[in-house]
Amino acid sequence: MADLSTNVGGIRSPNPFWLASAPPTNSGYQVMRAFEAGWGGAVWKTLTDDPIVNVSSRFAGLSWKGQPMVGMNNIELISDRPLEDNLREIREVKQAFPDRAVVASLMIEPKRERWHEVVKRVQDAGVDGFELNFGCPHGMSERGMGAAVGQVPELVRQNTEWVVEVAEVPVIVKLTPNITDVRHTARAAVQGGAHAVSMINTINSLMGVDLDTWNPIPHVDGRGAHGGYCGPAVKPIALHMVGDCARDPEVTVPISGIGGVASWQDAVEFLLMGASNVQVCTAAMYYGFRIVEDMIDGLNQYLDARGIASVQEIVGQSVPRYGDWNDLNLSYKVVARIDQDKCIHCNRCYIACEDAAHQCIDRVQTAGRETQLVVDETECVGCNLCSMVCPVEDCITMVQVETGRPPQTWRERQLQA
Ligand SMILES: Cc1cc2nc3c(=O)[nH]c(=O)nc-3n(C[C@H](O)[C@H](O)[C@H](O)COP(=O)(O)O)c2cc1C
Ligand code: SF4
Ligand code: SF4
Repeated sequence: MADLSTNVGGIRSPNPFWLASAPPTNSGYQVMRAFEAGWGGAVWKTLTDDPIVNVSSRFAGLSWKGQPMVGMNNIELISDRPLEDNLREIREVKQAFPDRAVVASLMIEPKRERWHEVVKRVQDAGVDGFELNFGCPHGMSERGMGAAVGQVPELVRQNTEWVVEVAEVPVIVKLTPNITDVRHTARAAVQGGAHAVSMINTINSLMGVDLDTWNPIPHVDGRGAHGGYCGPAVKPIALHMVGDCARDPEVTVPISGIGGVASWQDAVEFLLMGASNVQVCTAAMYYGFRIVEDMIDGLNQYLDARGIASVQEIVGQSVPRYGDWNDLNLSYKVVARIDQDKCIHCNRCYIACEDAAHQCIDRVQTAGRETQLVVDETECVGCNLCSMVCPVEDCITMVQVETGRPPQTWRERQLQA
């Protein structure tokens, strides 16, 4: 069995799977049950010093072809429980599970004294670290907190500095995806003294509108508000932001990857793209805490099968392969190839290529009068569309062909011109 232990900016945990700050980490009862199930760490539902009031209802789910909660949206705020109750339970959890990471998520009005006071109180409860919630996109941002701080690099730097001044445990800064380039705020967090960054918090969204009542979904007494989007649908956005920060020389701290992680495979992708661990919210809300058993098993088997002794060895392995478009090899070419034995003649590839690609799939009449779908490889640009729409597994494969041209990137081409 591989060593699954991780160290995120000084916060250690026995495996890379943490619960993200959200409803599953709302109380000591829940976090204890999660730790019994095997989670390596938990980021407590965001704490503050000024009680907030939540609304009812507050979640909405996006279904796709019979699969519920492919995406999820919420207009929930941070913890609405008294700070003292949360701190007492944090103490109890830490005593019962000393080897697990208990991280306190915090969101405080952007004032130095307020941050200092709360940070000191919360660290007395024995947390292993802080995660600063500069990402919540709704409700709190209208009050000058959450994403209102997270969208302004200077405020991220300043608020982080205030926390680091008094924090005796590592500080993670959780970033918002509701920004043009996450590297700017990640760099600001590093400049402010953060020991790690985490991403992503939820994405601004409106889940839908009820066709009968014309109410936004979800609605509160007939009115709606923009909410935060998460779940499997956001994984590509999160992965891109993790990859961008991982390859940025100025983001010199570890990254905790969040957004759509629902399986060990998702976790491996985040680790390869530079995350030192992952955090999970929607999948734990959908499947329950025991999903972590599969995640740990799968990751172990994946590493063992490759003879990799420790999960840390795969962190960032794909980062050097991820970069700017200008560095891609313009001479590389793939074409679509159709396996005639597998083809069921549904014509989907033909229609896709004809209407939306390069009109290079021909319907050829064979001697046996059966029509075959055949790719004209000289015209095919290797866009992948036909293989994406084909309903039969491995029926269309993309194969590399020789172009006879030496490798050349756009950057090199410009230099030569
Ligand atoms: C209902 C709900 C409440 C959340 N509350 C918080 C919160 O209090 N603090 C925070 O930092 N993130 C909060 N989040 C965001 C999650 O921690 C996480 O960043 C996001 O859901 C993406 O991960 P996922 O795709 O695994 O759900 C919340 C998410 C949901 C769905
Ligand atoms: S890869 Fe694109 S261009 Fe080539 S056959 Fe398929 S759809 Fe057409
Ligand atoms: S989409 Fe696939 S199965 Fe359908 S015709 Fe094309 S190759 Fe055959």
